[in-house]
Amino acid sequence: MRAVTVSAPGQISVEEVPDATLPGPGGAVVKVEATAICGSDLHFYDGDLPLYPVAVGHEAIGTVAEVGAQVDGFAVGDRVLVASVAGCGDCAGCATLDPVACLGGAKVFGSGELGGAQSDLLAVPAADFNLLTIPDGVSDEAALLLTDNLGTGWAAATRADVAPGETVLVLGLGAVGQCAVRCAIALGARVLAYDPVEGRRAMAEKTGATALTGTPEDVVPAVLEATGGRGAAAVIDAVGHNATVDTAFAAVRSTGTVSVVGIHDLEPYPLALLMGTFRSITLRMTTAPVHRTWGELLPLVADGRLDTSGIFTHTYPLHEAATAYAAVASRSADCLKAMLIP
Ligand SMILES: NC(=O)c1ccc[n+]([C@@H]2O[C@H](COP(=O)([O-])OP(=O)(O)OC[C@H]3O[C@@H](n4cnc5c(N)ncnc54)[C@H](O)[C@@H]3O)[C@@H](O)[C@H]2O)c1
Ligand SMILES: [Zn+2]
Ligand SMILES: [Zn+2]
Repeated sequence: MRAVTVSAPGQISVEEVPDATLPGPGGAVVKVEATAICGSDLHFYDGDLPLYPVAVGHEAIGTVAEVGAQVDGFAVGDRVLVASVAGCGDCAGCATLDPVACLGGAKVFGSGELGGAQSDLLAVPAADFNLLTIPDGVSDEAALLLTDNLGTGWAAATRADVAPGETVLVLGLGAVGQCAVRCAIALGARVLAYDPVEGRRAMAEKTGATALTGTPEDVVPAVLEATGGRGAAAVIDAVGHNATVDTAFAAVRSTGTVSVVGIHDLEPYPLALLMGTFRSITLRMTTAPVHRTWGELLPLVADGRLDTSGIFTHTYPLHEAATAYAAVASRSADCLKAMLIP
């Protein structure tokens, strides 16, 4: 089978590797029908997470090709989506439906421990826990977003304690930020949104946000002006740079919440504890509790209360992965998120 591999910053190849095999009696092998490039894959591509070589990708939908003897809920031929973060499915942590709480340790596809989803076949452990049947009426785009980005946006917004009518600032309008904007609006917030790329701001405006313009330095004064000098009730950081966490702390009102889902590099962040404590700021940092979000998001997605259209802007065959990565990594107005078809 083929597997998209990053071997050095900016170096993508589509390698021939041995076919994925059943990862034990509770596992399944999924024939990947569509997979996607996420900002998290770009950390390997950009060199922020220099762990090479790595078979990448953690967002996949497809058809079950093989099931282990202990799998109850799935059979060969079922159309499924795969949780980007896998748990063992059999511990007290997984019983909370948050794979991050797995006592065996959460594992993310395409980051070394599990195979990459940008491949022809994907071995999925604990299939009964980590797979979900794609319900009728859920598009391929929506199903792919339910593997990761939509759950991340939802977790970013719910863990920002978004209350109806309150002002929430979303920093970063890649696919994750766009999902966070839509989720915060669905939860009743007034959303201010900022990204240095104008076209990405325009997309957020189309879904109901108010875009802040100018440079990153203009964001805090604009938020203060829009909130009568008080600051945002919550700030969602969908970037994860020192600069955006700094902006989040400066733009949030005292007693507000900073909700970080952007992935930082390996260096520590110098947290201004004194001011954070003095101003009673809540800091939440979240890896998407993917499995738990399905129950909350599926009804919203299935009947259109949460719109997932427009986030995928490009589709490429898997063998053109290098071109697709270059397009997504350019963070242009034009290319927000790409699907790869094996
Ligand atoms: N926590 C999770 O479970 C989870 C899940 C998926 C992705 N992520 C992370 O979320 C982040 C975003 O993912 P994405 O797919 O949207 O990636 P992306 O790279 O497409 O989006 C990042 C955006 O941030 C913008 N940006 C850069 N500097 C900025 C600044 N100073 N202020 C505001 N915006 C700025 C960029 O222009 C870009 O549009 C990545 O770090 C990714 O790893 C986390
Ligand atoms: Zn992802
Ligand atoms: Zn577990």
